[in-house]
Parts: sequence; C-alpha cells; structure tokens
Amino acid sequence: MERENVVGFICGSVNGEKEARIMIIAVDKEFRGQGIGKRLLELFEEEAKKLKVEKMRLEVKTSNKVAINLYKKMGFIISNMLPAYYNDGSDAYVMQKFI
Ligand SMILES: CC(C)(COP(=O)(O)OP(=O)(O)OC[C@H]1O[C@@H](n2cnc3c(N)ncnc32)[C@H](O)[C@@H]1OP(=O)(O)O)[C@@H](O)C(=O)NCCC(=O)NCCS
Repeated sequence: MERENVVGFICGSVNGEKEARIMIIAVDKEFRGQGIGKRLLELFEEEAKKLKVEKMRLEVKTSNKVAINLYKKMGFIISNMLPAYYNDGSDAYVMQKFI
C-alpha cells in the first residue's frame, strides 16, 4: 500500500468583519520550492471566497524574506509594521490582500 504523508499545511480563521487571518503556513523542508506553499495559499483563498471574505491578512517576521516573497507573489502587500511583535523581540510586517 502506498503511504501518504502530510508535507505542508495552512491554518487560519475568519472573523465577523469579512476578514480571514492566516495564522500559520509551513512546508516540509524537503518539499520546499516546488510550489506547495503557493498552492496552499490558493486553496485558502478559494475557501475564503466561499465564505464571502473580502480581505486576507497575516503577520510575518520582517527577516523572513522567503515567506515575504511568496506572499508578494500571491498579491499581498505590506500594510503596516509591528515593532517587537514576536516573543524574541523581532518585528512583523502586516500583509494583506483584497479578494
Ligand atoms: C514559506 C514557505 C511556506 C514557502 O513554501 P514553498 O512550498 O517552499 O513555496 P513555493 O515553492 O510555493 O514558492 C513560492 C514562492 O515563494 C518564494 N520562495 C520560495 N522559496 C524561496 C527561496 N528559497 N528564496 C526566495 N524566495 C523563495 C518565491 O517567490 C517562490 O516563487 P517562485 O518559485 O516562482 O520563485 C516555506 O518556505 C516554509 O515552510 N518556511 C518555514 C515556515 C515559515 O516561514 N512560514 C511562514 C511564516 S509567516
């Protein structure tokens, strides 16, 4: 029997203001750079649209260039910067996309 493993996931929530928030997205190291992160975001957007969401939002470490590149490629723009947002004192960008 062929085994199927989880190699990536995305998790988010929708609030009452037609806004979806992406809390976490990750792809197994061995499977990165193959378009899986992009596909997870596309699937999240498809589900958000079904729920009449108008805006997607997320926070990302300002040092996480790979993730920022991915979000920009998917149409997100940086809308704000939150100083010392994370426990380790690092800053976050708020990124959003209207759908
Ligand atoms: C961020 C992450 C989910 C991307 O997943 P992925 O499956 O590797 O992403 P994709 O293969 O779909 O890449 C899509 C785009 O992301 C960017 N990207 C991906 N890998 C990159 C790298 N090594 N360097 C620069 N940009 C990169 C590119 O813009 C890429 O588009 P392209 O392939 O057309 O150039 C993955 O790197 C990861 O799990 N990182 C650790 C967890 C994390 O940082 N999550 C985000 C927290 S907010």
